[in-house]
Amino acid sequence: MNRRRFAQFLATSPLIFGLNPSGLLASTPPGVSSGSPASVSDSLLALITSPDDAQDVFDFQRVAKQVLPPARYGFLATGTDGDETLRANRAAFEKVYLRALRMVDTANIDTRLELLGQELSSPIVIAPVGIQRNYHPDGELATARAASTHDHLQILSNATGISIEDVIDARGRPVWFQLFPNSNWSVLEKMVKRAEKAGAPVVVLTVDLNAGANRVTLMRYIGMDDRDSSFGHDQTRDKDSLVEDRLPMFQDTGATTPGFQLPGMTWEFVGRLKNITSMKVVLKGIVTAEDARSAVQHGVDALIVSNHGGRAEASGWGTLDSLPEVIKAVDGEIPVMIDSGFRRGTDIFKALAMGAKAVCIGRPYLWGLAAFGQSGVEMVLDILKWELAMVMGQMGTPTLKDIGPERIGRH
Ligand SMILES: Cc1cc2nc3c(=O)[nH]c(=O)nc-3n(C[C@H](O)[C@H](O)[C@H](O)COP(=O)(O)O)c2cc1C
Repeated sequence: MNRRRFAQFLATSPLIFGLNPSGLLASTPPGVSSGSPASVSDSLLALITSPDDAQDVFDFQRVAKQVLPPARYGFLATGTDGDETLRANRAAFEKVYLRALRMVDTANIDTRLELLGQELSSPIVIAPVGIQRNYHPDGELATARAASTHDHLQILSNATGISIEDVIDARGRPVWFQLFPNSNWSVLEKMVKRAEKAGAPVVVLTVDLNAGANRVTLMRYIGMDDRDSSFGHDQTRDKDSLVEDRLPMFQDTGATTPGFQLPGMTWEFVGRLKNITSMKVVLKGIVTAEDARSAVQHGVDALIVSNHGGRAEASGWGTLDSLPEVIKAVDGEIPVMIDSGFRRGTDIFKALAMGAKAVCIGRPYLWGLAAFGQSGVEMVLDILKWELAMVMGQMGTPTLKDIGPERIGRH
């Protein structure tokens, strides 16, 4: 049992007051048991120096903020306008409480599921994020290796800094391929065919950035950065070399600039995409019942309820709050996944109880990646998996099928 697990074991053991755990808990401020930012001011917490020392995923955020140049951290952290959607994503979890069922045999917790014909060992999925070398030199390869050792489904962005073939090689299994629309259909078609040839069984079309996003926090961080701050999807910098040097999925497609937005995109686009591929088609970025119904009517295979981690529009509407109407509109016809703001096992549990099949994680694994590379991503996944298993035990729900609406309530 590693140091962190041992400390956690002691923290719930009735023996804790009778033991002197050789200074293990000595760094914990008096009166505080969890080291959670919810209860301890950030200034009291030392930065962790090893993934093993993390109490929760926020410990990685503090390190990421320290080690990344401001512009890169800003790209990761930003929401839009005054970051109201970012806050709404987190606030939504506080409105939902858990209803524990006691005296259920939870000796064995089983988090396996079936999703779009694939057997998964966990409902925790790695969300697509572009150019991950911005956060660690190993970039998407480190994430793929962590996805492999910890057996998580990985969705790869078409803004990946490492080719899909190399990422699949590192993961040892296919990834799902996420696609931003492109105004040049031939570029898009070449990319889709390449992903399919590489073995991706699913294409995830992101539909929430077509109107652009006013990322004020990012611009403020850029203003604080006096070094070369080329990063991510910013198309105003590095324009000439972006496609050739940094975005392998655009190579040999004829693209001269990447282009991630298509303001003219309508439902007709989905039909066109389905016509050129046999991959299953998932839409990422749906938040309303109207769109959920249209998606079903247009033959979409699954949805990801997402507001791009609060980075698309300043709706002020958390995804956990939009989930119920999407679930209702879909009426069990296709699986619904969700992301945006998930940081704890209880967050994941709440979405599953509302009917989500799986939950995608964005920033937490990027914090782990920035802080410690592959082992940071692995520990973030470990923590979330461990927290989910714990809350499943606490709620008397040993399998995912046991997690239903009766296990939650609304304040
Ligand atoms: C730095 C960063 C880059 C992202 N890049 C992409 C991307 O390339 N494609 C995409 O569909 N979503 C992208 N997203 C959104 C994530 O897939 C996901 O929806 C979001 O991060 C989930 O919210 P969370 O970060 O609060 O967990 C990005 C998010 C971040 C933070």
